[in-house]
Amino acid sequence: MTEVETDERAEVIAQLPPSAWIRDGINDPKNSVAILGKKGGPGKTSLTQLIADAGVRLGLNILALDGDPQGNLSIALDSQVKLVPTGKIGLGGKQVMEPDRDTMVEVLEADTDGVIDEAFQLVPWTYNAAAEFQRGGPLIPGRLGTLAIVPTHNPMEDISRGWNFSDLNRLDKALNNPSKPQGIAPNRRWDLVLGDMLPGGSDLARAFLKAMRRYIVLTTAEPFGMNAIANTLTFARDVRDNWGNPELEDIGLVFTSYRPQSRVANAEIADLRAQQDSGNEAVKIEVWKPRVSSRTVVPLAQGYRVPVSRFLTERQDRGAAAELCQVGEALLLKTLDKIGHPDAKELEERWLKAWGTDLSPWATGAIAEKGDL
Ligand SMILES: Nc1ncnc2c1ncn2[C@@H]1O[C@H](COP(=O)(O)OP(=O)(O)OP(=O)(O)O)[C@@H](O)[C@H]1O
Ligand SMILES: [Mg+2]
Repeated sequence: MTEVETDERAEVIAQLPPSAWIRDGINDPKNSVAILGKKGGPGKTSLTQLIADAGVRLGLNILALDGDPQGNLSIALDSQVKLVPTGKIGLGGKQVMEPDRDTMVEVLEADTDGVIDEAFQLVPWTYNAAAEFQRGGPLIPGRLGTLAIVPTHNPMEDISRGWNFSDLNRLDKALNNPSKPQGIAPNRRWDLVLGDMLPGGSDLARAFLKAMRRYIVLTTAEPFGMNAIANTLTFARDVRDNWGNPELEDIGLVFTSYRPQSRVANAEIADLRAQQDSGNEAVKIEVWKPRVSSRTVVPLAQGYRVPVSRFLTERQDRGAAAELCQVGEALLLKTLDKIGHPDAKELEERWLKAWGTDLSPWATGAIAEKGDL
């Protein structure tokens, strides 16, 4: 890294408003939360996107880590990595290409304390700070938060090949250790660090989970998804017990619901409850009431590389956008509460007041009580 680049980084960091942890002098927050699920495709990346959008509108500093070599979160947050020519010619007369920004690959290769501070980039989503909250503006008038990402791309897939046990600590060191003695650990600069996990149980997934202190399991309420709950918990508990992250704890299980399968979903969830009630440790995790509904506004936002809240001003998509934004906000508030964020209570009170009677049963959890999936 040249000196000019270091100065630029120092400026970006200096302009970051202090997180509540720094403001309140809280030193070792457990504020890194993985969105986890061993099964592919329940909507981990989409949920990360929804919570990130909610975080900005609630005035928080949110850092999203793209833990999946597919780079879907990087695409969704309009931060896709592009390869550009280096000007060097390689074998066969081919241009040598390099990524146009720092990514998780550089972070993992650097293997250096605090290096996340050098790798995050601000997400180019824009918000209207003057708009009302119900129309996509901030919850506290004039106060939008900051969203940043460490993006990734395909080469991350190969990076853990040949790693030994201690190499699995690379991301942990990069995120949770300060780069200088007595310095600020990168995670503390953010109210919440969200880790969008890759499916499966590779060493890469393990290294990623080793850097996180809490996790949310996301799954679909159908047989394959239900089967993934115990598998996911086994994987995470193994990281906690045998791979050196004793602080790792689950904070909740979230269902993505698809209306056409409602009868199956209700039966599956009732079965899970029965297993939990009978003391089955393999599936012991708190089921959160808010659920993620299935609405085309999610892929639509991904298609346009904008937050879902952008559609709160669109006549046609407003209802669906409000429902999904509220679910994202409800799950963010629940997460803030679980990690002991100092502003959790106050934000929740303001949020309840802001939406008033317009809150969707998907966000309040009434949908779970009604059994209407
Ligand atoms: N709430 C939703 N409503 C409608 N479509 C959704 C919703 N959530 C996700 N999708 C769509 O489902 C697909 C899979 O979602 P997503 O990529 O978020 O899942 P994932 O769990 O991250 O997958 P992977 O395991 O591959 O990382 C995407 O095409 C996405 O647009
Ligand atoms: Mg994903």
